[in-house]
Amino acid sequence: MSDTMQNPAQKSPRGKPVISRREFLNETTLGALGIAGLGGTALLYQYFSPNVLFEPPMTFRAGNPDLYPVDSVTFLQDQLVYIVRTSSGFYAVSAVCTHLGCITQWKPDANMIACPCHGSKFHRDGVKIEGPAPRPLPHFAISLTSDGELLVNKLETIKPDKVLNV
Ligand code: FES
Repeated sequence: MSDTMQNPAQKSPRGKPVISRREFLNETTLGALGIAGLGGTALLYQYFSPNVLFEPPMTFRAGNPDLYPVDSVTFLQDQLVYIVRTSSGFYAVSAVCTHLGCITQWKPDANMIACPCHGSKFHRDGVKIEGPAPRPLPHFAISLTSDGELLVNKLETIKPDKVLNV
């Protein structure tokens, strides 16, 4: 082929380079495969990575007893536990409703714990007042650490009449 002969498919009439249909399809196919490969890799990574649910520890420190005034109910949102302090001591009550597991709320004006889902109501010691909840709110074991902090163990439920005297 001489220098004066050019392939007419290589340049447009305005002199801009033109790619053939085959080249265009090759490049777009490679691009699509690359994107699909990245997506597939991401899906494989997600599929093979463990499906782990991170929950707070079942035993936790609730701080110094002086943090809790006498005759108070304190909701610990991270743990879903109420720390109740009365004149006779401390107890820890679950904030999870015994009906279908909704998170209850302390209502200081009404002096009770209420479930927003189906209307169960409880005294601050977890005893049911009304509603569909089949059981009172359970009490968790509560003790003092060697350095004087409250320690709640949600793995151990105790009778509601047990109070930690501090
Ligand atoms: S979940 Fe609390 S009353 Fe139904």
